[in-house]
Amino acid sequence: MRPADRRNRSGQGGRSGQGGRSRLRSLWERCWEGLRPLDPNRSVKAALGALVIATVAITTLLTIIALHSSIELRVIALLAVIASLLVTQFVAHGLAAPLDEMTDAARSMARGDYTRRVRVERRDELGELADTFNRMAADLEAADRHRKELVANVSHELRTPIAALRAVLENVVDGVSDADPVTMDTALKQTERLGSLVEHLLDLSRLDNGVVPLRTRRFTVWPYLSGVLKEANMTKGEGRSRTDVHLHLDVQPPELAAYADTERLHQVVANLIDNAVKHSPPYGRVTVRARSGQAPTSLRLEVLDEGPGIPEADRERVFERFGRSAAAKSGDGGTGLGLAIARWAVDLHGGRIRVAESPRGCRILVTLPGSTSDPEAT
Ligand SMILES: Nc1ncnc2c1ncn2[C@@H]1O[C@H](COP(=O)(O)OP(=O)(O)OP(=O)(O)O)[C@@H](O)[C@H]1O
Ligand SMILES: [Mg+2]
Repeated sequence: MRPADRRNRSGQGGRSGQGGRSRLRSLWERCWEGLRPLDPNRSVKAALGALVIATVAITTLLTIIALHSSIELRVIALLAVIASLLVTQFVAHGLAAPLDEMTDAARSMARGDYTRRVRVERRDELGELADTFNRMAADLEAADRHRKELVANVSHELRTPIAALRAVLENVVDGVSDADPVTMDTALKQTERLGSLVEHLLDLSRLDNGVVPLRTRRFTVWPYLSGVLKEANMTKGEGRSRTDVHLHLDVQPPELAAYADTERLHQVVANLIDNAVKHSPPYGRVTVRARSGQAPTSLRLEVLDEGPGIPEADRERVFERFGRSAAAKSGDGGTGLGLAIARWAVDLHGGRIRVAESPRGCRILVTLPGSTSDPEAT
């Protein structure tokens, strides 16, 4: 026989062997499906039934032994009671243990610890209950984490306009600047910003339901960004005087238009400038560069500085809530939320934000897709 034939035959034999095995397996699975209600591991009712059957069988067996031997009936009765109690104890322990564990976990949850999970190997109703319990614990843990993050976000976002307002008012009180209409207008703008931030933070609380409204509109980039830079100039370093850092705006073409929710974009740019200023060397330069993206009204926004930059290994982590770069100085006053909020705002637009390669310092690149339905876009 040629080797090829031999291979064929053995292949066919293998296949028929495999077919037989799979038929046998499916037959067993069908039988098992029928017997399933009687499997003591699958159902509490079946486990209790098995317990009754076992105790009756033990008693009957011992009675038969008593009838055919010289052992006294009361000794046999005592043995039957002991054996039945042992079997009952064994089954009851198996049933009660998951409930005890769930009670412990529920007590921990009541104390605010949502990390506890129930480890149950059973496949019966108790196993299902434990699975549901674990799912509920995971949902509660996520909700609790989200609540904490929200509180942290709220305080972070309120801090910026309050600091700006305070700076303006302090200057007036100290006589550094007069309470003229221009200064008061800046204070009013910050107050308005506070009001709209509170409104937006209420939107943030609806984030869970995925129903955060985006108030997108078409706007001209240069006047918009120069307004954001002007505000950033006033709050540079938030009290830690970084007036040495120079902010530079570069928009090409000057009439560049984009399509976004300007309040949300303000959150992004203000956070990026705040970071760039914070990490700039003395008399460093921070550049906000805006260019058109590939699609009409799409926007490419870059914020560059001359600081130490973000190490490659930390470039994703810094966008996580409370994610700080290993190179970050401890006690620099940051909460580690700015970039997380920026990413959230950019994500809402369907855009991207990332740390891009740069020969010097840090370069954060934001791309916003713009609008496909804008009549002026074409
Ligand atoms: N321009 C930058 N240069 C160097 N490192 C940066 C820069 N921007 C951000 N980082 C790093 O990313 C981390 C996260 O930034 P993020 O803005 O989220 O938080 P933060 O600035 O520390 O605090 P917050 O913005 O909440 O005040 C910072 O702690 C810092 O380590
Ligand atoms: Mg920051």
